[in-house]
Amino acid sequence: MTTKSAVHILACFLQLCIVNGQVICERQMTAEWRVEPNHNVIKWTPRENICSDFYTECWNMNKSISGEISEERNLSIPQICPLQLQLGDSLFISSEPSFQSYGMNLVNVSKEEFINCPKAGFLQEQMIFVCQIRGLHQVDPNWLGVGTHYFAELHKRGPLLCDMGLRLNITVKQQFCQQSPNAPLCSGHGKCLSHIWEKAYSCHCFSQYSGRFCQKFDMCSTKPCQNNASCTEKTELSGDSYECTCPPKFSGKNCTEIDGQCQPHTCFNGNCSNVTPNTFLCECDKGFTGPFCEDPGDSCASQPCLNGGICQYNQSGYVCDCPAGFLGHSCEIDVNECSSSPCQNRGTCIDLPNDVTCICLPIFTGKFCERILNPCELLPCLNNATCVAQQQNYNCRCMPGFTGKNCEEVIDYCRLLSINCLNEGLCLNIIGGFTCLCAPGWTGKFCQFAEDACLIYPNSCSDGGTCIDMSQLREQPLFQCLCSHDFTGEFCEVKVDSCGSSSCENGGTCVGYEDHFKCRCPIGFEGERCELDIDACLFYNISCAPGALCMDKSHGLNYTCLSPCIGNTEVCANGGSCFYDEEKQRTHCVCALGWTGQTCLENINDCGVNQCQNGATCEDGINKYRCICPLGYSGTFCEFDRDNCTGNQCSEYGFCHDHLHNYSCKCVPGYEGPFCEVEINECSSSPCKNGATCMDLMGHFSCHCAAGFKGETCSVHMNDCLDRPCWNGGTCEENINDFKCNCPFGFSGQYCEIEMDECESAPCLNGAVCQNDVNSYDCFCPEGFEGLNCEINFDECTYGFCKSNSTCLDLVADYSCVCPPGFTDKNCSTDIDECFSKPCKNGGHCHDLIGEFYCSCLPGFSGQFCEAHVAACLSQPCGASSICKDILGGYLCFCAPGFIGNNCETEVDECLSDPCHSGATCVDHLN
Ligand SMILES: *[C@@H]1O[C@H](CO)[C@@H](O)[C@H](O)[C@H]1NC(C)=O
Ligand SMILES: *[C@@H]1O[C@H](CO)[C@@H](O)[C@H](O)[C@H]1NC(C)=O
Ligand SMILES: *[C@@H]1O[C@H](CO)[C@@H](O)[C@H](O)[C@H]1NC(C)=O
Ligand SMILES: *[C@@H]1O[C@H](CO)[C@@H](O)[C@H](O)[C@H]1NC(C)=O
Ligand SMILES: *[C@@H]1O[C@H](CO)[C@@H](O)[C@H](O)[C@H]1NC(C)=O
Ligand SMILES: *[C@@H]1O[C@H](CO)[C@@H](O)[C@H](O)[C@H]1NC(C)=O
Repeated sequence: MTTKSAVHILACFLQLCIVNGQVICERQMTAEWRVEPNHNVIKWTPRENICSDFYTECWNMNKSISGEISEERNLSIPQICPLQLQLGDSLFISSEPSFQSYGMNLVNVSKEEFINCPKAGFLQEQMIFVCQIRGLHQVDPNWLGVGTHYFAELHKRGPLLCDMGLRLNITVKQQFCQQSPNAPLCSGHGKCLSHIWEKAYSCHCFSQYSGRFCQKFDMCSTKPCQNNASCTEKTELSGDSYECTCPPKFSGKNCTEIDGQCQPHTCFNGNCSNVTPNTFLCECDKGFTGPFCEDPGDSCASQPCLNGGICQYNQSGYVCDCPAGFLGHSCEIDVNECSSSPCQNRGTCIDLPNDVTCICLPIFTGKFCERILNPCELLPCLNNATCVAQQQNYNCRCMPGFTGKNCEEVIDYCRLLSINCLNEGLCLNIIGGFTCLCAPGWTGKFCQFAEDACLIYPNSCSDGGTCIDMSQLREQPLFQCLCSHDFTGEFCEVKVDSCGSSSCENGGTCVGYEDHFKCRCPIGFEGERCELDIDACLFYNISCAPGALCMDKSHGLNYTCLSPCIGNTEVCANGGSCFYDEEKQRTHCVCALGWTGQTCLENINDCGVNQCQNGATCEDGINKYRCICPLGYSGTFCEFDRDNCTGNQCSEYGFCHDHLHNYSCKCVPGYEGPFCEVEINECSSSPCKNGATCMDLMGHFSCHCAAGFKGETCSVHMNDCLDRPCWNGGTCEENINDFKCNCPFGFSGQYCEIEMDECESAPCLNGAVCQNDVNSYDCFCPEGFEGLNCEINFDECTYGFCKSNSTCLDLVADYSCVCPPGFTDKNCSTDIDECFSKPCKNGGHCHDLIGEFYCSCLPGFSGQFCEAHVAACLSQPCGASSICKDILGGYLCFCAPGFIGNNCETEVDECLSDPCHSGATCVDHLN
């Protein structure tokens, strides 16, 4: 099978409907086993044929009727329309053209990996193809065994396209419809079918048949039991069989026999015959039924009229009123409408009931091939292009984004604009443009921004560390690891020794476990490392006098009570309160918020722990601080990056790049200027040499070289034939500074690039249609002509239609037979019945010969027409003396005495009777 027809089959097999941008996969809920295996081509591209919703798109069914497959409920997995194949079907994968340079492979995955998309770490055995593929490749049949298989896209680098739908669910089914390998499917008495959710094909029998392979005929269905008897199927191995249970008075295998013996008139309209000494049977006359032939039957009941004929009664049975196109008593004859040769221009005629269909030669069309085809009628232009007919050719005007003779190709912007998707992104052509498919973690039109460094460097924080992205759409990915408490280091790669030197504070005892430790704290301390001194003053049962200050002591749950200072209260500055510590015999200041120090003179540095971000400077205040933001940031904590890109003026050919306090525009190739608003005229630097014409394209230029030059900038002087400048098999001849192409027949031009229109010289004769071809032409001859140029009036006599040694005369598209005597009709095939005029008279029998007849006459007649009576006695057959009398068919002789015999030819010997007595000698005389 050619690729073209394989693709055609694909188009039929995978017909897709696109509704509001969604792909709905076309589904047959029940499929019949095909005898011939199919070739399926799957286009492996994210651009088409990708469905998402399990029910409404991929399997195209109503959610309400799908209770049977509750497992997949609510699944929305973008995927290539799932396939159902027969065991033995072949599968080809055609890889996305945009990605061809990247190469790709498929990998066989589990159902879970299919649903969640595979991550990494595949074995060579899971690869569907031995190496990276480009173009069309066949999947080895070993991957297509019975069952459901899941394939997903695998790339050496770049983004995982599985998430975009590049994954495929293939279910391969076998059939259980044949009793033995060569037996017909379902014994020819049923269909081999599979519902979409069934795992295999099995037989569905026609009525009257049953059994796994429809091999059993159900005898009872033929209603063999008469007279309301009931029928029971017998399942003996002896074969198909049944048993009738007869009502009273009836017996016999089919309950047709009646108890008793024949009496006169027992059977009303039929003959009675005794079957056994106790039973009889009525054999009914035509048209009667019933056990006693009492019932006039309905001759139309058996539906004798075929092909839609309408049955009507009459005395002798029925007549059929046949529909047009049918004849015969039962409308069984299909009139051959092709006999009138309705197809023109040598189309082939196929007879249909009361109709014909003509299969036309190329370039003809119409029901009777009567019209020359307008090439646009074949709808050659794809993708909504407009077709413009030009005599026998056509031109397609493509919609934006398409190209190719039939607008079948999506313009390859990735290559045309030399798009470089950064950071392992893949460039994908979309209609009218391109898009970069970014590797995980990257974003931006060209994948230039890091969006999530944790995706870019997966698993970079070891030992359960949590990765935190810090990239904030910069070009460099940044992340930090938040380690679990047993680990430390930039990537949490350093393990903390569980009972290291000073794990427990304040005299806590360390108890080491395998991967962690616990501190047993002394009284008055708590916390994981006993780092918290419990404030004894917080307990309700302290007994300090009113106005006194409770102060926690650093060991144990001990406290001391300080009474307010008496007299000199100015000791504590900045609003601090003064207390006297009797134990230490000195004053103690309790400072107002924001102050500290022995006498509350020190301003607490609130910047010690601050939340200023993005390199802001912290300015300390009293019990507060202020963040002084660097340029480009704002907010209390300078947490807002002032995005100078919002409302930027970059043109559609540039993307904005945010800097600290301004922005710049990065231009796509081919544009320049502060806002990428100027299309670079690459021709302005006159790059094309040697008199070439420069064409400014987006991002680059193209040189059309003057004759004799080549190369990107036409800088290479072509001065010899080494470059093989001659096309279409032309031979190159070197001249000084020049060359000459000697073109093969059918081509002309400096490089033999012009294909000659061989039809121009009107080579086709006798009104034939000319079609140009490479180096040749085809003439489509009108009926009756043949030959390369239709110059030969086809000799229809060679068909040998003239029969009976007639002479054939050739006419234009016809012939004539000159019949020898005795033959008639166009082909002289009918022998003229010369007896038709009943030429033989007097009961003579006529024999039809070729061109003549012969009469065999009854006795007594003669002549060509038996017209003459034969006067038999004229020849005196009875001898002279006897009397002759003509009779019908002969004569009678009345013999003279002494003679006997039919013709009186015998003389009687009278002596024989011994008439002479006493020794006398007898002498015989006449009479
Ligand atoms: C794959 O297709 C089969 C039917 O061919 C279906 O039963 C199954 O649920 C599908 N699997 C997934 C994960 O969609
Ligand atoms: C019974 O009916 C079957 C089927 O109609 C027929 O073939 C068979 O000859 C009948 N047998 C007798 C004994 O009438
Ligand atoms: C083709 O044209 C029809 C009618 O104008 C429109 O509905 C359809 O979306 C077009 N299809 C494409 C692929 O552009
Ligand atoms: C209070 O501290 C003293 C030592 O200063 C100590 O001996 C005593 O046990 C502590 N009391 C409590 C209840 O911890
Ligand atoms: C950048 O943004 C800031 C605040 O939005 C603004 O004050 C400054 O003028 C902008 N700079 C430019 C070059 O637009
Ligand atoms: C045709 O002619 C040949 C010889 O002249 C003769 O043998 C043959 O019988 C003829 N056939 C018919 C159908 O007359």
